[in-house]
Amino acid sequence: MHNRQPIPSCWDQRLAGMALVMALCAAGAWPLAAAPPEKSPLPPDHAEKLAKGQELFSQQVRKVLIDQCVRCHGGEKTKADFDLTTRDGLLRGGNSKKPAVVPFKAKESRLYLFVTHQEKPHMPSQADKLSDAQIASIEKWIDFGAPYDKPLIDKGTTTAKKPLIVTDEDRNFWSFRPLPRSVEFRG
Ligand code: HEC
Repeated sequence: MHNRQPIPSCWDQRLAGMALVMALCAAGAWPLAAAPPEKSPLPPDHAEKLAKGQELFSQQVRKVLIDQCVRCHGGEKTKADFDLTTRDGLLRGGNSKKPAVVPFKAKESRLYLFVTHQEKPHMPSQADKLSDAQIASIEKWIDFGAPYDKPLIDKGTTTAKKPLIVTDEDRNFWSFRPLPRSVEFRG
């Protein structure tokens, strides 16, 4: 008998808890949803776009950024504190504290306005304007959400040859240890 009682009261608690959570969510989420106009919702077909964007990135855009931008933005140098070797850095922007790219919106992206010379500073700095084809693929890539397949440079490894270092652990490896007496060759 006594084991019937907890069921309805447990339900009551759950319902009360759920109502509370929902109320808190509504209260918390409402101003968030209403606040920043630039945080527009993802386009409904964003997954498809990002997939196309990643393909375009690996086939075309990646090379343009590496050839034309990385030496000043995350490679040898990081001018204006802008590092575009990762998508995080791209979205964060540099000294301006403004994102360089607004995903899915090329025409609102500062990077696009700079490479098309619609706004200053023109990029790449101190170099010829990118070709129309290069600009077109950057535009499409941003409209597809500006996804990366992987960072533009792998900072974990260097291309320079590392010196071979033999650690104590290596030295302990069986083939490095002196032969035991019993198997030593005699003359
Ligand atoms: C020779 C070096 C150099 C190259 C190459 C270069 N940039 Fe720049 N970039 C700069 C300098 C310097 C600034 C700061 C200029 C200023 O604020 O007047 C800058 C600023 C920027 C900014 C603004 C960052 C911010 O938020 O303040 C963006 C975006 C940018 N570059 C994109 C690019 C892109 C995209 C490429 C390649 C197509 C590129 N840059 C190639 C030197 C370079």
